[in-house]
Amino acid sequence: MNDMAVTREQREEKLQGMGCKRKRVEDIRFTQGRGNYVDDIKLPGMLFGDFYRSPFAHARIKKLDISKAKALPGVRAVLTAADLKPLNLHYMPTLAGDVQAVLADEKVLFQNQEVVFIVADDRYIAADAVELIEAEYEELPVLVDPWVSMAPDAPLLREDIKDKTEGAHGPRKHYNHIFDWQIGDKAETDAVFASAPVTTKEVFYYHRTHPSPLETCQALASMDKIKGELTLYGTFQAPHVIRTVVSLISGLPEHKIHVIAPDIGGGFGNKVGAYAGYVCAVVASIVLGKPVKWVEDRMENLSTTSFARDYHMTTELASTEDGRLLGMRCHVLADHGAFDACADPSKWPAGFMNICTGSYDIPVAHLAVDGVYTNKASGGVAYRCSFRVTEAVYAIERAIEVHAQKLGMDSVDFRMKNFIRREQFPYKAALGWEYDSGDYHLAMEKAIAAVDYRGLRAEQAAKREAFKRGETREVMGIGVSFFTEIVGAGPSKNCDILGIAMFDSCEIRIHPTGSVIARMGTKSQGQGHETTYAQILATELGIPADDITIEEGNTDTAPYGLGTYGSRSTPTAGAATAVAARKVRAKAQMIAAHLLEVHHDDVEWDIDGFAVKGLPEKRKSMKEIAWAAYNTGIPNLEPGLEAVNYYDPPNLTYPFGAYFCVMDINVDTGEFKIRRFYALDDCGTRINPMIIEGQVHGGLTEAFAVAMGQEIRYDKSGNVLGASFMDFFVPTAVETPHWETDYTVTPSPHHPIGAKGVGESPHVGGVPCFSNAVNDAFAFLGATHIDMPHDYWRNWQAAENLGLHK
Ligand code: CDP
Repeated sequence: MNDMAVTREQREEKLQGMGCKRKRVEDIRFTQGRGNYVDDIKLPGMLFGDFYRSPFAHARIKKLDISKAKALPGVRAVLTAADLKPLNLHYMPTLAGDVQAVLADEKVLFQNQEVVFIVADDRYIAADAVELIEAEYEELPVLVDPWVSMAPDAPLLREDIKDKTEGAHGPRKHYNHIFDWQIGDKAETDAVFASAPVTTKEVFYYHRTHPSPLETCQALASMDKIKGELTLYGTFQAPHVIRTVVSLISGLPEHKIHVIAPDIGGGFGNKVGAYAGYVCAVVASIVLGKPVKWVEDRMENLSTTSFARDYHMTTELASTEDGRLLGMRCHVLADHGAFDACADPSKWPAGFMNICTGSYDIPVAHLAVDGVYTNKASGGVAYRCSFRVTEAVYAIERAIEVHAQKLGMDSVDFRMKNFIRREQFPYKAALGWEYDSGDYHLAMEKAIAAVDYRGLRAEQAAKREAFKRGETREVMGIGVSFFTEIVGAGPSKNCDILGIAMFDSCEIRIHPTGSVIARMGTKSQGQGHETTYAQILATELGIPADDITIEEGNTDTAPYGLGTYGSRSTPTAGAATAVAARKVRAKAQMIAAHLLEVHHDDVEWDIDGFAVKGLPEKRKSMKEIAWAAYNTGIPNLEPGLEAVNYYDPPNLTYPFGAYFCVMDINVDTGEFKIRRFYALDDCGTRINPMIIEGQVHGGLTEAFAVAMGQEIRYDKSGNVLGASFMDFFVPTAVETPHWETDYTVTPSPHHPIGAKGVGESPHVGGVPCFSNAVNDAFAFLGATHIDMPHDYWRNWQAAENLGLHK
């Protein structure tokens, strides 16, 4: 095509670059059932692994007889801790500096813990063999309540580390204690609280839940004994980190390990860590010299691989009588289960919980977190969240409501009075973070106008009067939340995983015909990276997005990166993509100048190529430049056109948003109806508005699930409740409310294209918004705080506690 034959607008449109509502290219295969997931991969001679698991939450293994299982025809191997011990593989390191049993050694610490790994010719034989394991246990006292974990007579859980007084994050106070992490000025904060005119204190429990991606965790290990090479396919959100971990654990050289994450059916944090199933599949494949596949079922996923949340947050605010915030104090009791397997950057044992001052200009604050062991599954992953930001935002957004209630102030007015003002950015928060940019007042004003907030309050006041007169049994709640996220981990100065700095990467190759392949260190799990990275490149390189292939997930070909979680892809690899493209463009400029026979300072970028300054008709398109890069010997320039960038972000990015929910609750049945949900998000420069909207819809749906029903509970004996989709709430289209979306744009000043992450924002802001709506509905009857999840039963219970059923 002759580029000059079309208008500038047409040339720009053809690129489908940033800002364009480009349709997701990956959906062509996903919607036709042509995705390629781990369980679609079938290798010759492949065997299948399955676990025999503990029926008890805390028990000593008195007898383990595997002989009948071993004798079953078709069973190839039966592994126990005794087999892994000589290889030093019965424990594996966790991301949090603890160790975790791969197969239970002498005692079990949570229900469904892995005890025996059976490898068989097919899945059914492996499952039959599991039934033939004979075990005897001596039951031990079970610890499920973290509030008594550190009692003097609490049962000792971790016998393997009982004498360790130092943990990965400092001294341990008790044999069930993991860490004590404090940040902020305690003395100054205590002094403010001692003299503050108005203070509030409330314990907010953010219950235990689970990311529950539709595709469970799975792996396929294939050891080639001749070449001494291991290929490991898996549902890995961070394939390169898995390769390094496998190398460190197995002793296999890293260049002999090929980790491949094919299509992934949702991750939400569940697929960041390493699990016993991965290790056992690798060991079995090394031992047997055959490919071994391990695929979790739903119950195994919900009850054993990483849980999320489980934070008990005692949160205090101090203010003047007219509502000016003076200080915040927060203590978290963190229930980490049987092993500390939290997936956080190494230096942050409670993730980014210290973003808990939220969107407010709070002069002083102090945060203390105690992590403890209990007889529950381990984990503590960031379920659609950036390392505990969800918990932090829940704490502050509930505390704001509780405090506004005490002040007798409208909670939106209270927020507006205390927001960090636009001229205060970059803003250094009391607990250390430097917020990059924001315009909170603008966002809140747009939101309150869109929902007619004052009108809603008037309607609510009338309904409350009607309720008091006995004319209705419905109470109306208006949920408000305003959140500041912290995404893009992270600057290497304070973020690493197992000592590896949290940068990310992009490598671009332009082929002679002007088409492109680009590879990143991140890994999409449904976020649409193949679509959106191509849009960044289209704008930066002037090559149509349709001519650009994006590839992720193969450690042999992709540059090293730390993977996708915590909405870090856009702030890190998205930035690397732009910077690598600019390197390509710098070389393209030299080639164009050579072709146009002018000095390189005399050409300028023009949408999809370079033109001579002042002579736009004298130009070379990127297509022409790419061809020349491979066939024109240009003095002092190497042939070819490619570049790589490893991007270490100077700061995190701080997206934000204003959410409103309108809900009616029937006090006799506990049923709720969500009348309206409005979400305004600001993620800086918007790469693809349609994908952003999809991310917001998905995140809000998960927020709805968590706030209104989803939970992993345990009974007194440590039996896990909620380990199937019969009990664990995953909303379908039937229950899911209608979402209204909106936006403002405040670019990040330090990101090459001004973009901030967005994937988690709707979850982070959505959960407190739903919870605030429920709490607001009951507030006029004297309730201060009702814990999540707000299912029908608990709503009914809240009404019962308020004496509404007499
Ligand atoms: O790390 P993850 O991909 O989960 O999160 P993200 O960086 O927030 O990106 C999620 C999706 O939204 C990606 O496809 C991004 O390209 C897209 N996005 C966007 O279009 N504009 C933004 N400002 C941020 C993300």
